[in-house]
Amino acid sequence: MIVVTGATGNVGRTLVRTLTEQGHEVTAVARRVTPADTPPGVRAVAADLAQPSADVPSEGAAVFLLIGGDLMMAGDPVRVVAPFANYGRIVLLSSQGVATRPQSPSHGRAFAAFEQAVMDSGTEWTILRPGGFASNAYAWASSVRAARTVAAPFGEVGLPIIDPDDIAAVAAATLTQPGHAEAVYELTGPTPTTPRQRAAAIADAIGEPITFIDQTREEARAQLLTFMPAPVADTTLDILGTPTARERSVSPDVEKILGRAPTAFADWARRNASVFEQVM
Ligand SMILES: NC(=O)c1ccc[n+]([C@@H]2O[C@H](COP(=O)([O-])OP(=O)(O)OC[C@H]3O[C@@H](n4cnc5c(N)ncnc54)[C@H](OP(=O)(O)O)[C@@H]3O)[C@@H](O)[C@H]2O)c1
Repeated sequence: MIVVTGATGNVGRTLVRTLTEQGHEVTAVARRVTPADTPPGVRAVAADLAQPSADVPSEGAAVFLLIGGDLMMAGDPVRVVAPFANYGRIVLLSSQGVATRPQSPSHGRAFAAFEQAVMDSGTEWTILRPGGFASNAYAWASSVRAARTVAAPFGEVGLPIIDPDDIAAVAAATLTQPGHAEAVYELTGPTPTTPRQRAAAIADAIGEPITFIDQTREEARAQLLTFMPAPVADTTLDILGTPTARERSVSPDVEKILGRAPTAFADWARRNASVFEQVM
């Protein structure tokens, strides 16, 4: 049995479906998950990983561990990892920031502490370190639907953002196949794209023009602070505005594991066009 935490999120939802389609017995964990959120046959377990007595199965072949919501900054890594110590394997979704932003309290230090807890758990482990997700563009959905506009900072700065479905595919492989023990993988998309290019890809996907509005860093920060803590917002803006050479580079790891190139942002936009499509 494989446990997928973060089972209702961008990565977890696809991972639950993929593992189920592959014939694995899957338990889906999130605070508010219900059977209606999961494919038939999947066991839905509502549990808060921040709680010391998180009611998760005590044994399993493998667990996909996702540090969702407040857990990154407020969770106790040793306590969050402890319930999975008797599992055959832990695959942790971490962040590229552990390598590129080691001084950041969020992307660097907080995730490094979760990685350490997993490495110290005594269980076989694999660490996945993605860069930015294509699904961050969902933040543009309401303005695209309402006014066909995208407002974003650093419109000309390119980053090889990754499709969360590719993360789920890598997670499925590392959870179920041999050869990934004690491996740390950096996960990126196939090529850097700028926010302006991503807005244009969404415009292509919905068949309507979209106006790109340049935001200042302060405007973007005010928006980010409505749904993330200040340290996370500040590091996010540092990455978006002044990425390091490594953050701008395409990693070979997705292709190495999946045997195919990572998915382009334009494909993500086409698959998610309905989110942006509603008539003005
Ligand atoms: N977005 C990016 O650019 C980026 C880049 C690098 C790394 N990451 C990392 O990737 C992860 C986000 O992945 P995602 O986009 O797939 O997630 P998401 O869509 O934000 O969903 C989060 C999932 O975690 C669950 N969750 C949140 N808090 C929980 C708790 N205390 N106990 C149990 N379950 C909890 C949520 O369900 P409930 O709310 O019902 O519990 C949901 O299933 C984060 O760790 C983030 O730091 C993101």
